[in-house]
Amino acid sequence: MIKEIKNNLKEQLEKYYKDNFNLAVEFVVEEPKKAELGDISIPVFALIKPLGKKLPEITAEVCEVIKGFDLPVENISAVGGFVNMFISREKIAKIVLAKCIEDGLDYGKSNVGEGKNITLDYSSPNIAKSFSIGHLRSTMIGNSLKKIYDKCGYSTYGINYLGDWGTQFGKMIVAYKTWGDKEKILADPINELTALYVKFHKEAVDHPELEDKAREAFRKMELRDPEYLELWEKIRELSLKESEQIYKILEVKFDSYRGEAFYNDKMDSVVEELESKGLLVEDNGAQIVKLGDDMPPALIKRSDGGSLYITRDIAAVLYRKKMLNFSKILYVVGNEQKLHFEQLKSVVKKMGYDFADDIIHVNFGLYLTNGKKASTREGNVVKLYDVIKYANSLALNQINEKNPNLKNKEEIAEKVAVGAIIFNDLKNFRGLDVEFDLEKSIKFEGQTGPYLQYTGVRINSILKDKTFDNKNIDLSLFTKNHYFELVRLIDDFENVIIEAAEEYSPSVIARYLLNLATAFNKLYSLEKMNIDDEVIRNTNFTLLAATKNVLEEGLRLLGIKYLEEM
Ligand code: ARG
Repeated sequence: MIKEIKNNLKEQLEKYYKDNFNLAVEFVVEEPKKAELGDISIPVFALIKPLGKKLPEITAEVCEVIKGFDLPVENISAVGGFVNMFISREKIAKIVLAKCIEDGLDYGKSNVGEGKNITLDYSSPNIAKSFSIGHLRSTMIGNSLKKIYDKCGYSTYGINYLGDWGTQFGKMIVAYKTWGDKEKILADPINELTALYVKFHKEAVDHPELEDKAREAFRKMELRDPEYLELWEKIRELSLKESEQIYKILEVKFDSYRGEAFYNDKMDSVVEELESKGLLVEDNGAQIVKLGDDMPPALIKRSDGGSLYITRDIAAVLYRKKMLNFSKILYVVGNEQKLHFEQLKSVVKKMGYDFADDIIHVNFGLYLTNGKKASTREGNVVKLYDVIKYANSLALNQINEKNPNLKNKEEIAEKVAVGAIIFNDLKNFRGLDVEFDLEKSIKFEGQTGPYLQYTGVRINSILKDKTFDNKNIDLSLFTKNHYFELVRLIDDFENVIIEAAEEYSPSVIARYLLNLATAFNKLYSLEKMNIDDEVIRNTNFTLLAATKNVLEEGLRLLGIKYLEEM
């Protein structure tokens, strides 16, 4: 609402000066430096020169002009070169709170995406290797973005483009044939397969011929050797279980699990199309597409005929466009694949497809531990599952300290732990690296997921078991800054979600929720909420109920559980 008022002010002022003085000035509608000065501030310096008048004369004129608009603004006054005003806080509070409470968890929904599809490619782990921390990031960012686009009215389609084809399967097949024990694997697939993978890498240090064997095994897969395909299929199925275990904990779902292998039979036609469009060039026995001076060429087919990551991605994006007719396709993948996606876009463009511009690489930074790249690979197998288990124990310790009699402690601890990991990931712009400090991110205070969950719990404990009449409230309370700040934020929720969608960054919502929690905590420190005066109590509770509603929905958009108690 406030945003519309601001836009309106700007448009009407610009029209006024156009119509009356034939001036094309651009007005900027800002917030004053100090909240006491008002909710809106408009600098008018730009009018001095063209109007040839003194500043006081101009500000007085602008004040009068604004008074003539039919907008809910009041106390219009000039300070220096600025015209400041308050919006009619009472009117706005009334409308915003009523809408928020009426809409419930639908509040913040928009239809900016109506009729459009957003396809998301996220998580996409290379199975038969341990699930890496980078894939964890992709999973959480993608999962949140999907919810954000749904909320904006888009139809969405989430694809887990499994890395289910590649030399890692060759390694697993060799490891399995050399040391594998079928019974053991079936009994405990995740741990047994990880152990085999680790063993392969350990042994390969002294026996490099194992690597040759693995390449040979993968080659057999590519040549469709039935024995090897069958082993591949089995290993694929079993290794998916590790990822599924993580998806279950994080409550992440996909519409499709079509991975790299699905495109095995769809690459030849890509090569033919490139050929027929005159884009393929031979280079030392390999086939490449040249992409100009600023970009290395895309290697489409290796000299030994082996298939390539980019060729598969070209096949996949053409297939997806045909099947889903997306208006955008988002690839939630780390910064290190920047060039890959630039090449993908460029090749698709050269093939003559306009939708190349709708291919978006939603990039993200690394996880750091003590400033160094964190890894789950090879010898140093930090299993994500173990990380989550450790986070659970930290969360449980805190609960035992703060609320030892809580029921379902373990269950709640897991939601706190997962909330902590997700929030730590999403709170900063995704392109940045993330310091992975579990101890810090799981604290109930500071900029953490548990802090937000805990804020929800506090609000909930005030409101719990109490009834109140949200129609019988004292709107004059909203002239106080610490009351109105929450209304302002609640009003902004829809815009914030749209902005997160535009920037492909859940962090916009994460930062917003921190502000919301801070505004609540400020109000709570200044005013007693549950008081005898019925009308004031109604007002307080109405505001808290709306705040809680937005907090709950905002957390859901990030993939974090709102908790009633913790
Ligand atoms: N499996 C790939 C990797 O781990 C990520 C796949 C991303 N998606 C894509 N369409 N290339 O590096």
